[in-house]
Amino acid sequence: TTSYDAHFKVWRGDLDGGDLEDFTVEVNEGEVVLDIIHRLQATQVPDLAVRWNCKAGKCGSCSAEINGRPRLLCMTRMSTFERTDVITVTPLRAFPVVRDLVTDVGFNYEKAREIPSFVAPQELGPGEYRMQQEDVGRSQEFRKCIECFLCQDTCHVVRDHEENKPAFAGPRFLMRIAELDMHPLDAAESEGLDRKTTAQDDHGLGYCNITKCCTEVCPEGIKITDNALIPLKERAADRKYDPLVWLGNVIRRR
Ligand code: SF4
Ligand code: F3S
Ligand code: FES
Repeated sequence: TTSYDAHFKVWRGDLDGGDLEDFTVEVNEGEVVLDIIHRLQATQVPDLAVRWNCKAGKCGSCSAEINGRPRLLCMTRMSTFERTDVITVTPLRAFPVVRDLVTDVGFNYEKAREIPSFVAPQELGPGEYRMQQEDVGRSQEFRKCIECFLCQDTCHVVRDHEENKPAFAGPRFLMRIAELDMHPLDAAESEGLDRKTTAQDDHGLGYCNITKCCTEVCPEGIKITDNALIPLKERAADRKYDPLVWLGNVIRRR
């Protein structure tokens, strides 16, 4: 037979506290963890809270932790576990719980708002923008982001350090700054905005010590660390040690 009963532990509670609850629940061939959570809702715990929308790994809503690892519930196949495994499902740890598996990810929207958007070049009109395919390709990788915030949840800078949150934008938003900084038409500097400097000073780029945990959990396979964070760090360092910038700073200080 292709059906079996699995042993699940699901966290239930709210901001005031909660606990893991044990469930025995049917699993059928081809199912994902979200199917099992839905079966629990349908048969045993109608008020179990879970956020989801697409069930296709595209909306980024069903982020949670499975056996302590940040995962999309809809993209985690039951066939990746042994039938005898106890499967533990808990809410994202880095963000405050609303109820059961639902967390308040507002931190990420705040960070998104703090990043100045693309600055259009003054001398070009609509239809006059030209870019090399190479530059287009580079930002297209970052544009695959589904804003699941699994990378934000897993990064140790905030995962265990609530106090770092005000100063650290997290991998998803440092990647956004990198994307804008690499954009050949972004005219931020002409308006006195140096994205490299603000990444360091305002968005906590220096907190990232390139552990690459963000890259490991990204369901879109974006190479956040290698393609966004490390290049941004290099560009920020170049700026600091650029002899002309250095000389400029020395002269200004006099
Ligand atoms: Fe999710 Fe990847 Fe986007 Fe981070 S970069 S929010 S892990 S899709
Ligand atoms: Fe965090 Fe990713 Fe850097 S996990 S420390 S942002 S490489
Ligand atoms: Fe949309 Fe899982 S439900 S990504």
